[in-house]
Amino acid sequence: MQGPRFPFRAALAAGLAVAALLPAARAQDTLKIGLVLPMTGQQATTGRQIDAAVKLYLAQNGATVAGRKIEVVLKDDASNPDQTRRLAQELVVNDKVVALAGFGITPSAMATAPIATQSKTPMVVMAAATSAITQASPFVVRTSFTLPQASVSIAEWAAKNGIKKAVTLVSDYAPGIDAERYFVDRFLLNGGTVPEKLRTPLRAPDFAPVLQKVRDLAPQALFVFLPSGQGAAFMKQFAERGLDKAGVRLIATGDVTDDDQLADMGDVALGVVTSHHYSAAHKSPANQKFVEAFRKANNGLRPNFMAVGGYDGMRVIVEGLKASKGAGGEALLAAMKGQIFESPRGPVLIDAQTRDIVQDIYIRKVEKVDGQLYNVEFDVQKGVKDPGKAR
Ligand code: DHB
Repeated sequence: MQGPRFPFRAALAAGLAVAALLPAARAQDTLKIGLVLPMTGQQATTGRQIDAAVKLYLAQNGATVAGRKIEVVLKDDASNPDQTRRLAQELVVNDKVVALAGFGITPSAMATAPIATQSKTPMVVMAAATSAITQASPFVVRTSFTLPQASVSIAEWAAKNGIKKAVTLVSDYAPGIDAERYFVDRFLLNGGTVPEKLRTPLRAPDFAPVLQKVRDLAPQALFVFLPSGQGAAFMKQFAERGLDKAGVRLIATGDVTDDDQLADMGDVALGVVTSHHYSAAHKSPANQKFVEAFRKANNGLRPNFMAVGGYDGMRVIVEGLKASKGAGGEALLAAMKGQIFESPRGPVLIDAQTRDIVQDIYIRKVEKVDGQLYNVEFDVQKGVKDPGKAR
């Protein structure tokens, strides 16, 4: 009698043990998010800002969803798109991440989009800003901005402020092409002329020859887009070549007067008018709290627009995971669409149709505040959708 009962009991006990263990084991499983950023190389400031902002968001908002701990797996792609794609593939296949995030430059985002589509992994673009990125995969959600959003607003401002002749200077890759096209179209529509469109390479740009051309052309204004991290070198050369003294007014997207570098740009930056979605000087209680906490956690570092893209990107992922109860894939994607919240930059919406961010675009002027250079907002266009989607 003992014989048959024992194995039955043992089996039952073992079964119970397994049953008891399973949910416990699942509860211990972390929810992994793959964060791919340029932590080294030319775009390293983008990586540093976003990584710090992601850590801050998790520290402030708890790192657990549906009883599971959120774990961010950070990989450095050195802004090499082949590397980005390889790392994203590994994160999906080996680490089984529920979401991919980061993407410092457009080529990195574009290289990864097919992986998001094939694996049905939501991919949150926190930095890259070419309009077309959200169309490269139905799994892309963006929390940064688009160059058309920023460029149309500054073209409007220029036309309304007596500027009739402008030369453009952009970084020669996708976001630069977007900036040039949307600035020029709107500026021409408003009756302006553009005698020359200049471009510099993304890698190791040399501003001397293009600035010489600008001097010769003597436009009323020079419109500039350069990716985050190149603004300080550009401003230095702009001053060294005496363009500020020659009466060429500098206007730009806010990438050029990047908060990460602005404090060290010197007085040549004073008075530069730009349009963008974020300034560390944005006056709202939410932003004041954000800037203070970011500085405290990062040795006084001032957050820039990349940091805000990372901070809001984590918000979109964490709130999405709460709604999907920790599920990834299409459930998580659906829970990201349509999120509305107050960002440090102001109110934002993740457009459910386009998966792109709808946000306020500010016109700002570089001024000294308490002895430090800031982009001080003086005008705003509310709730701007990406103009690139209308084409
Ligand atoms: C991109 C990169 C930047 O650093 C920036 O400021 C804007 C756009 C990009 O590659 O998309």
